[in-house]
Amino acid sequence: MKSAFIVFEGIDGCGKSTQAEMLAEYFSQMGKECTLTREPSDGKVGQLLRQALRGEVKFCEQTMAALFAADRLDHLTNQENGVLKALSEGKIVICDRYYLSTYAYQSVEVDLEWAMALNSQAAQIARPTVNIYLDISVDKALERISQNRSQIDIYESKERLSQTKKSYEKVIAKLKAEEKIIIIQGEQSLEEVAQNIRQSLEKLGLFEE
Ligand code: TYD
Repeated sequence: MKSAFIVFEGIDGCGKSTQAEMLAEYFSQMGKECTLTREPSDGKVGQLLRQALRGEVKFCEQTMAALFAADRLDHLTNQENGVLKALSEGKIVICDRYYLSTYAYQSVEVDLEWAMALNSQAAQIARPTVNIYLDISVDKALERISQNRSQIDIYESKERLSQTKKSYEKVIAKLKAEEKIIIIQGEQSLEEVAQNIRQSLEKLGLFEE
């Protein structure tokens, strides 16, 4: 099995964190070394972003877009636990969010082309082997968010999630030539969604030796 960079995408509450964990577990059971990571990252810029997402510090949306791009470069290149290091060691890297999140979330308020330009280095350095977009209705997402969270982030309002979902759809259509994106229905049971993801990855040859 080759190394691969697998990214999960979708609106808040779509279930991607759980599915990312289930897929990592599956790879581990198959004896494949797998790293599960996320953005915002656990690095210094990522920590600042999480404070901003909780509303503890305030930045304009342009600054947020630039910080997400900076966090991404740090997440890719840092020598301790960076994505590039793990890929170079032959591991499978599963990442909960990557640049499609910036394109979808930040382009609600900033220019999409500019957001893409900010991420052009990341796209050159590490384009995902595949982006898995978990598709879920805004109502279902809000239902899950209210059940599972004690803390509601700044982008988790109904209006913002609806805009972000539309934005994801636009971005996916726009990038279909250059990005490998698979769309998975996210409203079924955890096990059904996990199985659909595995089947799609199998079709892409990701489980071959
Ligand atoms: P999320 O994956 O929902 O983290 P958690 O499960 O810990 O709450 O991501 C946090 C938020 O960050 C989410 O609202 C989306 C937002 N975000 C962006 O707006 N742009 C980005 O580039 C990234 C990576 C995340």
